[in-house]
Amino acid sequence: MTEHLIDMTLPALERYYDTAPRVGGARAEDFGPLTLFVQEGEGWPYYARPALGGSAATAEDVQRVRARQRELEVPEAFEWVAETSPGFRAAAEAAGLHVHAHPLMVLDPSAEALPPHPEVRLIEADDPLLTAAVTVPALAFADPGTALGEAGAAELAAASVDPQARARAGQVSAMLASGRTVMAAAVRDGVVLCSGQYNPVGEVGEVVGVGTLPAARRRGLALAVTAALVAQARARGVRTVFLSAGDEDVARVYARAGFRRVATALIAEPPQG
Ligand SMILES: CC(C)(COP(=O)(O)OP(=O)(O)OC[C@H]1O[C@@H](n2cnc3c(N)ncnc32)[C@H](O)[C@@H]1OP(=O)(O)O)[C@@H](O)C(=O)NCCC(=O)NCCS
Repeated sequence: MTEHLIDMTLPALERYYDTAPRVGGARAEDFGPLTLFVQEGEGWPYYARPALGGSAATAEDVQRVRARQRELEVPEAFEWVAETSPGFRAAAEAAGLHVHAHPLMVLDPSAEALPPHPEVRLIEADDPLLTAAVTVPALAFADPGTALGEAGAAELAAASVDPQARARAGQVSAMLASGRTVMAAAVRDGVVLCSGQYNPVGEVGEVVGVGTLPAARRRGLALAVTAALVAQARARGVRTVFLSAGDEDVARVYARAGFRRVATALIAEPPQG
């Protein structure tokens, strides 16, 4: 990707980060240079971030938002792009938060499409495998990294009957029905082995929640699911497809699907313990 494309992409991502929570059912609370997004529906809690086009935030601004987050009993989480808001890391750290960095990657518009994988298909709102497809990333993120692990079909079956899994599936089903998310999964013998989503807002879409059952890793399934999401996004007119990779190992998988690192996504949270 050329520097010019990167320069054009970062402002589009800022608009996405500001819009996606609003269309996802969050209200925006104005804290001057910061915006706190608060989920009003049943979805996941959101974060605070530098206000779109706002001035530089200070540690005191961060503390004001943290106090409000505690009052609302929502996570004291902040998310932003390092290159777009270069001074914010120092403000977050001065306010006592721990900052971690993730490669921010954008699909190269000239990347060649990968061939479809025979075991990968889209999951619709009423799909009988939806609860399993929503549960696979939960098991995957509980065993981070890219190594093979223990949890497989039996653990998935047990986790899928959990009421929380069913509640999550209900939320995702509503999002699928309204077009706010698109889901793809790798299914073998009726068992979901890997799944992922992308969330479109206009011409921008973020790939999220790609996870492979620990026992089914290192067979190319995440690459195939990501490729299916990319193909759908392109077919539906999404011009900018992006994601934050967990770490450099995960970023390698996405690079094979045509994503290129353009910036660094930063997340700040209170230090653990
Ligand atoms: C990251 C994750 C989704 C990757 O899933 P996966 O299905 O194992 O991914 P792939 O099989 O496409 O690629 C993983 C590795 O297996 C290798 N591989 C793929 N097919 C292979 C095959 N047939 N034989 C041997 N190795 C293979 C890939 O080359 C890659 O190797 P690398 O680590 O050296 O780059 C999975 O490890 C996971 O769920 N991790 C926890 C959650 C997470 O971090 N998700 C990403 C959020 S951004």
